[in-house]
Amino acid sequence: MAFDIEMIEKVYATMAERVDKARELVGRPLTLSEKILYSHLWEKTPSQAFTRGKDYVDFAPDRVACQDATAQMALLQFMHAGKKTVAVPTTVHCDHLIQAKVGADADLTRAKSQSSEVFDFLSSVSNKYGIGFWKPGSGIIHQIVLENYAFPGGMMIGTDSHTVNAGGLGMLAIGVGGADAVDVMSGMSWELKFPKLIGVKLTGKLNGWTAPKDVILKVADILTVKGGTGAIVEYFGEGAESMSCTGKGTICNMGAEIGATTSTFGYDDSMRRYLAATDRQDVVNAADKVAEYLTADKEVYANPEQYFDQLIEINLSELEPHINGPFTPDRGTPVSKMKEEAAANGWPVKVEWGLIGSCTNSSYEDMSRAASIVEQAVAHGISPKAEFGINPGSEQIRYTIERDGIIATFEKMGTKVFTNACGPCIGQWDREGADKEEKNTIVHSFNRNFSKRADGNPNTHAFVTSPEMVAALAISGRLDFNPLTDALLNDKGEEVRLNPPKGDELPNKGFDVEDAGFQAPAADGSSVEVVVSPTSERLQLLEPFKPWNGENITGAKLLIKAFGKCTTDHISMAGPWLRFRGHLDNISNNMLIGAVNAFNQQTNKVKNQLTGDYDAVPAVARAYKAAGVDSIVVGDHNYGEGSSREHAAMEPRFLGVTAVLVKSFARIHETNLKKQGMLGLTFANEADYDRIQEDDTVNFLDLTSFAPGKPLTLEFVHADGSKDVILANHTYNEGQIEWFKAGSALNLIAAGKA
Ligand code: F3S
Repeated sequence: MAFDIEMIEKVYATMAERVDKARELVGRPLTLSEKILYSHLWEKTPSQAFTRGKDYVDFAPDRVACQDATAQMALLQFMHAGKKTVAVPTTVHCDHLIQAKVGADADLTRAKSQSSEVFDFLSSVSNKYGIGFWKPGSGIIHQIVLENYAFPGGMMIGTDSHTVNAGGLGMLAIGVGGADAVDVMSGMSWELKFPKLIGVKLTGKLNGWTAPKDVILKVADILTVKGGTGAIVEYFGEGAESMSCTGKGTICNMGAEIGATTSTFGYDDSMRRYLAATDRQDVVNAADKVAEYLTADKEVYANPEQYFDQLIEINLSELEPHINGPFTPDRGTPVSKMKEEAAANGWPVKVEWGLIGSCTNSSYEDMSRAASIVEQAVAHGISPKAEFGINPGSEQIRYTIERDGIIATFEKMGTKVFTNACGPCIGQWDREGADKEEKNTIVHSFNRNFSKRADGNPNTHAFVTSPEMVAALAISGRLDFNPLTDALLNDKGEEVRLNPPKGDELPNKGFDVEDAGFQAPAADGSSVEVVVSPTSERLQLLEPFKPWNGENITGAKLLIKAFGKCTTDHISMAGPWLRFRGHLDNISNNMLIGAVNAFNQQTNKVKNQLTGDYDAVPAVARAYKAAGVDSIVVGDHNYGEGSSREHAAMEPRFLGVTAVLVKSFARIHETNLKKQGMLGLTFANEADYDRIQEDDTVNFLDLTSFAPGKPLTLEFVHADGSKDVILANHTYNEGQIEWFKAGSALNLIAAGKA
């Protein structure tokens, strides 16, 4: 599993030169975030200063990480790039497909048999293409990345929104869609709008019951779930330095909950300690040589208001433990206010479950502090009033806390230890009685608490708090218990109080593990066979999309004119469809089934122009495809907003849709359409949307002279024979037009032309 010290040294070797050049171009001191961004430009040495929140910039990330749900389609696509190995160090982690039910061993055995074909596929592709593979049970992607791969000043992307966790080790780590990961794995650049910067100055010091988690719960309360959009959050100040590295990871992890591009901290002693404890003294030695480049220039933190787009200040000495929720992570309630808030809002105060762990809070510090609360309860003879569960973030953490008696402490309270995997955090929780949909409260130390996320019950009120607070609330069985002021009754009816938690930042005896669950790839994978059963319903090898035939598209049928909001969820729904993420044909049966047909205001009911009958959108698309007829989709504003899911572009491409013509696009979806070799077009005149009729046939009149900046002309032939000729704008550059011609960006890479 060796981290790539040579790669890290290479990054550091050019850092000074690139950052110094950037400082000269920008003409002022630089923040840490800017240093990392400018030292990871695709063009290598910076040649211009970028405008935050405006310029789109090509970057060269150092690493890629994928989790099992998103890796399937990413790797199926990568297989088409025609590369022998991935271009940058990459890892795959099996963590999302394991359900929590009875406990670690039985749950893992069941998951392995249920998803064996997916795990075997991911394992063999990883083996073949030089990708590090973390087996089911090894742990959760972000915890493993922090323990093994993250490094100060680095840049990585990952196909999961909580990739941002690695900011705890001073990285810029960003969650992306599979298509972006495929680009970087294939040796292409990765594009990002140069982010805005939010500075968070932490003064004072955490104490008593307050934990790093409370910092981000407070920040979420201030900024709300959208407040970080398009921005990097950079934390600094004496409060940041006094905090553990893993605590920093927790804060960065939940940056995803405020919509931030990512979050990060400057290199400091806590990172040195963590790197050394996780067997990476080499990284410390290398980082120390460029330490001044791994934090902001001194002037920045001295006068932060001059250098950040927004500044927040939090005094840790005064910060109270927070309990955020229900249903949204930005609804913050300080523990002292919970009694009145819960009563005023009718939240069930009886806590049914306390859950800790996940990628957010699985550190040794988290576990030992939570265990110190359990230890007190046991010593005082208090029986816990709620059930308690743990999802350790990695086998290394689980093994170490078992060795040190921490698991034994939890077990004294009847705690269930689930597999080292996401489990309840991603709804992979077969919770007894959840199907009754009763109103109830759970508390957890995860990051997200949207309705239904943990157990599928829309009436479960999930509250997010620190692991030590989860322990206290689960023991008391009450959401409105305030351990700072309230007493509990023990089994003899005596009043007892819990002392503030105590714990170790790092294990005194060091981390340990017998089998971390890592599979190194073959040194030469050329003879490794990737096996996908042709009868599999979950996996399907991809066929390259056909190149453009060089002629105008004619006779295309209107598949659907979507009305109003059409997000990636409307185009490619999640939920039960997740199991088909690796099977393009099967998942295409959800294509646009959530979109509203503008002609009848219904979902998933469109006219098949060949028969005159109404049918489901995928069925009609398949009928056109079978008849050799192209189809087009028309849409409204901000079409394709939401996630960066590439399935929303691949499915229409697979079912024969050649163009998507809308009033405006969400940018990532527009790029995804281009990558899949489709035409993503916008009405030059928005009002033309109203001219599109249900029985329209579309002819492109000048596709043969497709060129950057030149609108395309489309002829819509209506049922009565009348015609409307409209202009469609596009944003294709020369390179992207080549993607269209080749049939997809990957086809071009495979042909060695990109
Ligand atoms: Fe998994 Fe939940 Fe983290 S789904 S990756 S543990 S946010």
